[in-house]
Amino acid sequence: MKIYVPLDTAARALGADDVADAIRAAAKAAGLEIELIRNGSRGMIWLEPLVEVDRGDGRQAYGNVTPGQADALLNGTLESLGPVEKIPFFARQTRLTFARCGLIDPVSLADYEAHGGLAGLRRALALKPEEIVDEMKLSGLRGRGGAGFPTGIKWDTVRLAPAPQKYIVCNADEGDSGTFADRMIMEGDPFSLIEGMVIAGLATGATRGYIYVRSEYPDAIRILEQAIRIANQNRVLGSGILGSGHAFELEVRMGAGAYVCGEETSLLNSLEGKRGTVRAKPPLPALEGLFSKPTVVNNVISLASVPVIFERGAEHYASFGVGRSRGTVTLQIAGNVKHGGLFETAFGMTLGEAVNEIGGGTRSGRPVRAVQVGGPLGAYMPVSRFDTPLGYEEFDKAGGLVGHAGLVVFDETVDMLKMARFAMEFCAVESCGKCTPCRIGSTRGVETIDRIAAGEAEAIPLLTDLCETMKDGSLCALGGFTPFPVMSALTHFPEDFPGAAKPFKEAAE
Ligand code: NAI
Ligand code: SF4
Repeated sequence: MKIYVPLDTAARALGADDVADAIRAAAKAAGLEIELIRNGSRGMIWLEPLVEVDRGDGRQAYGNVTPGQADALLNGTLESLGPVEKIPFFARQTRLTFARCGLIDPVSLADYEAHGGLAGLRRALALKPEEIVDEMKLSGLRGRGGAGFPTGIKWDTVRLAPAPQKYIVCNADEGDSGTFADRMIMEGDPFSLIEGMVIAGLATGATRGYIYVRSEYPDAIRILEQAIRIANQNRVLGSGILGSGHAFELEVRMGAGAYVCGEETSLLNSLEGKRGTVRAKPPLPALEGLFSKPTVVNNVISLASVPVIFERGAEHYASFGVGRSRGTVTLQIAGNVKHGGLFETAFGMTLGEAVNEIGGGTRSGRPVRAVQVGGPLGAYMPVSRFDTPLGYEEFDKAGGLVGHAGLVVFDETVDMLKMARFAMEFCAVESCGKCTPCRIGSTRGVETIDRIAAGEAEAIPLLTDLCETMKDGSLCALGGFTPFPVMSALTHFPEDFPGAAKPFKEAAE
């Protein structure tokens, strides 16, 4: 009997380790031979710890398992949810990037290969660098960290830059509130990220790679380091990492907890051992990045999507999606929601569908009032914008941003003035201090919102002016995008801002 108990941080936080211990002890007491595998999460966080049991007739899932249920789980008297693939939340997904996550043992390269792993690398090895880049361009993959810049064009810039040393840097500093896709893939399918980085190295001529992981992800760091050791020992395809025959040294580096180090140039400074402040662009990191050398900086999900693009072909990947947003988006549904978790789907699903049908509405049972999409710098979308399809341009048109695709749901009890204040305060706390609109503006912004809260309606135009200045004058997205949550709160929920109700409500409509 094979038993799968997730090692994912979210599952562990909900008691997965105790469940695993209890299952081992119960099996021993009953004299049962079991193979207990610690897999990644299937992404249905509200069902964690989600345990699967394979008695030889396929995997059966059990949700919210407690240590006290170990005996019942082993003797088959515990009620099952059936196969994971039949649970509606899972069945409705298009799993490309996350196809293996939760299915395999994350640190078994044999399991990885048995489920399609390394097939993409095998294909890429037969291509010239420019052909690899062309395939990436054809796939339409755009940066999943949030900015949506075409990955193939970024790789081409690095490929064409003449330099004795180039780097691939993976941004795993996932600092956005309500996001966990990077963590889930690093814990549940780390070889897909490694394979994606090796392919990026082949395409650009980079021979060193760094994965910059936030310190809050100790499990991901441990699993990645184990996976890199295994990848370096593997000779399945020949010599070199993952047997690629390609000299590619890969290291994990731990961040120190600053949100701004998720911004690519701060991240590079931090990697170089410097203080994590933002660098002016240009020069672009693609031309002068780590140690001033041409550098690909890509988010975890962008890189982990590369193997499946090469395994199934760019055209297959590009056949999913809407408009210029091709492939899949890995929605992370969180906040006050019934079914929180990771949902991978083709771009194009509407926000309302994601929140109400997939997320099941609020956990509190009260009506949804707002959804913050795209992390702390994303706009608060009101229910009246729920028909917006999830796509970069589509969200832009609706005054929002997809960002890293985190959705944080709020019910009718949320005070939107407080949320706007929180956004400004977050910016003030996390500002790297390099430019004035963000460093000073965010602090003045908090004070201005406090004045509005105290009934000073005249402070409202000041807040709008300040947001304009921050948007136009900030050096990076932290100061430049903080106006999104602030202004969307003011525009869509003026009733929470004393004295603002009328003009803003009309403008919003
Ligand atoms: P950006 O638009 O300046 O750049 C996007 C990327 O494209 C960068 O890597 C840039 O170097 C590259 N690029 C631009 N032009 C290029 C060219 N001609 N050739 C090669 N590469 C080129 O955006 P930025 O500031 O890097 O990111 C902002 C985004 O980050 C926001 O949309 C926000 O949603 C997201 N974000 C994500 C967070 C997370 O936790 N994942 C946290 C905070 C923000
Ligand atoms: Fe630093 Fe803020 Fe300016 Fe970005 S916007 S460079 S975080 S001060």
